[in-house]
Amino acid sequence: MTTHAPQPAVSPVPLMDIASGVYAFKTLALADELGLFTWLSGRSTSVEEFAARHGIEHRPAELLLTACASIGLLDQDSTGAYTNSLLAEQYLVEGRPHYFGGWIKVVNRHEYPAYEHLETSLRGNHPISWDVEKQESLFAPDDPIMVQTFWDGMYSLSRYTAGLLADAFDFGVVTRILDVGGGGAAFDIELCQRYPQLRATVFDLPFVCELTRKPVSDAGLDDRIDLVGGDFFADRLPADHDAVLLSNILHDWDEAAVGRILDACGKALPAGGYLLICESFVADDKTGPPLAALMSLNMLVETWGRNYTVAEYTGWLDAAGFDTTNFLRFDGLGANGVLVAHKR
Ligand SMILES: C[S@@+](CC[C@H](N)C(=O)[O-])C[C@H]1O[C@@H](n2cnc3c(N)ncnc32)[C@H](O)[C@@H]1O
Repeated sequence: MTTHAPQPAVSPVPLMDIASGVYAFKTLALADELGLFTWLSGRSTSVEEFAARHGIEHRPAELLLTACASIGLLDQDSTGAYTNSLLAEQYLVEGRPHYFGGWIKVVNRHEYPAYEHLETSLRGNHPISWDVEKQESLFAPDDPIMVQTFWDGMYSLSRYTAGLLADAFDFGVVTRILDVGGGGAAFDIELCQRYPQLRATVFDLPFVCELTRKPVSDAGLDDRIDLVGGDFFADRLPADHDAVLLSNILHDWDEAAVGRILDACGKALPAGGYLLICESFVADDKTGPPLAALMSLNMLVETWGRNYTVAEYTGWLDAAGFDTTNFLRFDGLGANGVLVAHKR
């Protein structure tokens, strides 16, 4: 008589789903790097045509297209030819306003290689995606992969979230917003397009402001979005704004630096001015949610910071002279809500 081990109480499939995340990510990243979705916009391809276009054999061409279809990136028409799915057509075609490929390139070219050394980060409690002996921070003008990918990538990550922020908070009450560490100006472009009375200032490192001139110009907003170069640890923030936005800034820094940035924002705002903190907040009980908790671990690899909780921010805001008035939750890409505070 054969004896069987009892059936396990839970299925191991969720573990396989996590483990195969690397296959799915690399499929997406390679297809994006090959320009597959941009090429397929408004057309279809057979395996043979795709293989001939890239000078590759039938087998790998078929496997890549099948893999893309299996994870929702491609559909098949009635002839069996592959077309973009709606998801790919909306977010993976270069040049579209919500193109997400910029962020895929950051993960693929900059973060993915660093994750080979995640354990070094864990044991040493320091970032590993850049050399802490040679650079002052992650945001260095002489890191070619960062300059090539990061600020375009942040634009990709932030543009969709900016639309959610514009829905969640009534910017009709704001006349001039200061976007501290505003990067590629994704928020300023979206908000100025939605709110005709609004003007914005991006305050960021001088070399980043140079990179951001083009997207602002392309959006036809040079007359409403100012770019001011500076260092928020060393320079006074520009005055004469009634709101300050901090989007994915504070999680880059340790608690002491967070306090310094909040103090600087407090000095730049009049009494009653708004401070908006937009990022992926970790739950107060530190059990999730996954995108926030994984981004927080990502901050170990990339920075000296972590993703903080609403409760932590509420205490620090109070110390910096702010009353926290509201937390508006939404499902963004690099943010799951906005914490709204008022300068006392
Ligand atoms: C994670 S990105 C966020 C960009 C933008 N707020 C967004 O959400 O799309 C962090 C930004 O902070 C800027 N930054 C880093 N250190 C800075 C400093 N000392 N002074 C001003 N900006 C800084 C970086 O250049 C970068 O644009």
